[in-house]
Amino acid sequence: MTPLLQVRDLRTYYHTPRGPVKAVDGVSFDLQAGQRFGLIGESGCGKSTIALSLLRLIRPPGYIEGGRWCSTGLT
Ligand SMILES: Nc1ncnc2c1ncn2[C@@H]1O[C@H](COP(=O)(O)OP(=O)(O)OP(=O)(O)O)[C@@H](O)[C@H]1O
Ligand SMILES: [Mg+2]
Repeated sequence: MTPLLQVRDLRTYYHTPRGPVKAVDGVSFDLQAGQRFGLIGESGCGKSTIALSLLRLIRPPGYIEGGRWCSTGLT
C-alpha cells in the first residue's frame, strides 16, 4: 500500500551564534492511510521542528538541510 506520507532523512538545523543546533538529523517515517501517528519525545527533541519542516514553515535561523518527503494527498 502506498503511504499517505513518506519522509526520508529529514535534517533541519538552527544556525545560532554558538553553532548549529541539529534539531532534526536524519528522520524517516511512513504514514499509512487510516493510521494514527504519534510523535513522542522529551522537550526539545525536535517534534515541532519536524512538523514545521514538513509544512515548510521553518524560519531563520532554522534551515532544512536535507531530506525528501512526498504525500499522495487525502482523497
Ligand atoms: N528558533 C530557534 N533557534 C535556535 N534553536 C532552536 C529554535 N527553535 C528550536 N530550537 C532548538 O531545536 C531543538 C528542537 O526544538 P523543538 O521545538 O522542535 O522541540 P520539541 O520536541 O517540539 O519540544 P517541546 O516538547 O518543548 O515542544 C531544541 O534544542 C531547541 O532548543
Ligand atoms: Mg514543540
